Amino acid sequence: MYLEAGLLTRRSVRKFVKNHVISDDNIRDLLKIAMYAPSGCNKQPWEFIVVNDRSLCDKISDIHPYAKFLRDASLAVVVCGNEQQECAKGHWITDTSAAIENLLLACHGLGLGACWCGIYPDAALMKTFSSMLNLPDYIKPNALVVIGYPLQMPSSVQDRFREDKIHYNQW
Ligand SMILES: Cc1cc2nc3c(=O)[nH]c(=O)nc-3n(C[C@H](O)[C@H](O)[C@H](O)COP(=O)(O)O)c2cc1C
Repeated sequence: MYLEAGLLTRRSVRKFVKNHVISDDNIRDLLKIAMYAPSGCNKQPWEFIVVNDRSLCDKISDIHPYAKFLRDASLAVVVCGNEQQECAKGHWITDTSAAIENLLLACHGLGLGACWCGIYPDAALMKTFSSMLNLPDYIKPNALVVIGYPLQMPSSVQDRFREDKIHYNQW
């Protein structure tokens, strides 16, 4: 039941109700759940830049090639890795990706819609975000998570379960 309702129904949402305000309490709840993700050595090397300034959202939607829908969304969170806190070199990528997935599921659980828009590993895009958000060089942007109230839910997902993707004990 929980799997059906909470996990199998999550989809990327790209159409939002304009001017929907997400409360500070809800933003904190979402980020709390993101911070409960697993991480290497439990280092939790993530940082979250909440972008709720309308003009900055519009600027980002102009800059990111695949996030035009941020114009109608409530806010975005740039999920970054902290290279000074990771367990070993490169762990920030996997650790922040786990946090991003938690964040997407938290949005779904709260009845919000969200879409993961990649920044890493596009070096040029990472540089653009780093300078736009004044990130120190040890803070690496992984993704822009666009969040809002869904105007339209994507149609239900086709069955993704594939028996041939499962391998027992060897290839
Ligand atoms: C690393 C990564 C980068 C993505 N970048 C974008 C993006 O820039 N813009 C976008 O609209 N969707 C982006 N997506 C969302 C995928 O297109 C989406 O997850 C995929 O089509 C499956 O659909 P679903 O999320 O509805 O299950 C990205 C997803 C991942 C995991």
